[in-house]
Amino acid sequence: MEELVALCKRRGFIFQSNEIYGGLQGLYDYGPLGVELKNNLKQSWWREMVFDRDDVEGLDASILTKPSVLKFSGHEDTFTDPLVDCRDCKSRWRADQLTSENCPSCGSSNLTDPRPFNLMFKTAVGPVEDNESFAYLRPETAQHIFTNFKNVVDSTSKQLPFGIAQIGKAFRNEITPRNFVFRVREFEQMELEFFVAPGTDEQWHESWVEARINWWDKQGVSRNNLELYHVPEDELAHYSKATVDIMYKFPHGLEELEGIANRTDFDLGSHSKNQSELDIQSSVLENNESNARLAVQDQETKKWTVPYVIEPSAGVDRGVLAVLNEAYKIEELEDGKTRTVLNLKPHLSPIKAAVIPLKKNHEGLVEIASQIKKDLQRLRFGRVLLENSGNIGKSYRRHDEIGTPLCITVDFDSLDDGTVTVRDRDTMQQKRIEISKLSKYLEDLILK
Ligand code: GAP
Repeated sequence: MEELVALCKRRGFIFQSNEIYGGLQGLYDYGPLGVELKNNLKQSWWREMVFDRDDVEGLDASILTKPSVLKFSGHEDTFTDPLVDCRDCKSRWRADQLTSENCPSCGSSNLTDPRPFNLMFKTAVGPVEDNESFAYLRPETAQHIFTNFKNVVDSTSKQLPFGIAQIGKAFRNEITPRNFVFRVREFEQMELEFFVAPGTDEQWHESWVEARINWWDKQGVSRNNLELYHVPEDELAHYSKATVDIMYKFPHGLEELEGIANRTDFDLGSHSKNQSELDIQSSVLENNESNARLAVQDQETKKWTVPYVIEPSAGVDRGVLAVLNEAYKIEELEDGKTRTVLNLKPHLSPIKAAVIPLKKNHEGLVEIASQIKKDLQRLRFGRVLLENSGNIGKSYRRHDEIGTPLCITVDFDSLDDGTVTVRDRDTMQQKRIEISKLSKYLEDLILK
């Protein structure tokens, strides 16, 4: 983990947030390369979840959330972790993560009994700060998918089964944020709520687990490093009938990368008015505040059904960490030296290609290189960089380390014959190709 953290800082992937003021625990900022990698991962998810299907619609809802939403979702009462204080050194711990009865910091056994600590952040809305005017920062993106259920159905005429996808920030006041971006207080989630007819939920649950493992595999997170954890009944979240966690072998151990829950009709049911008129199967929270019926009507029987929902919920930050961990390699070279390389899948690489004139600031070479950059950039696969450093070896090393799949060198032959040298990051093999064929070459590499 230390090596990855160092690489992330050195090359501009991820920085400690608020660093120049000493940092703020559990918060990280994504730098010039990190933001590209993160955006590419999110785009890959969106493409597969929304663009490649016709049964999923997208949403981008607000982060500030009215307390009623999180009261009827059950979060106000149950979204807690057990907190213990050390009376001697004043440190705070999650009781369920302690491995002994002593304080991990000072060794004292003088610990308080665990008490529930709600993880939701609150903030004031408007100029007057009182008990009436607060809002929560959402602890999951899911709730506004549920509260917008009727809006989406009415505006798209969707029929079951269908889903609503959302990517965005979530906030949790974690007691012990740790392990780099694995457990943080501000993070992003990629969540799909896939609504299905009751009775078909278990089959859909199984197929979503398989689909999600396949997607991770395509991001370079190998199946061999994933394990499924069928969450036992006494550990299930209050809304879940069954949850399967996709666990990944992170550098600090096997931990959850994504959870896929069968949330039944709990959320839509709990947020609905006139619940007794609906055929709700779970024990929902009684609601006298909502003004919506979050159900679908059968065209023939006119019966209203509250759909069940299957929820694949993945953490973007944990995804970035897993993808980096899989890609990070130190390779022995034939000359006895080593190289650091990120074997990122090309569609995730922050820089898709670096175009390098052999001689720094040489007018003719830079002109050709600039034109190649422009042409490749126009393909909109991601960032293409003109690297006018004049130091080919150093450029190769830097681009290996940040995962650029292709380096294109423009040399003096290019001036005469319109060809360039392309160097493959993974094999380090170099070959000459015509400049006119570069677009196709890059396209094949990224889309393969
Ligand atoms: N809507 C369901 C839900 O939020 P969750 O298991 O609490 O379920 C889903 O969170 C995913 O969000 C997790 O699998 C993880 O990838 C990510 N996640 C949760 N808490 C996180 C944290 N404190 N830091 C980073 N990622 C987190």
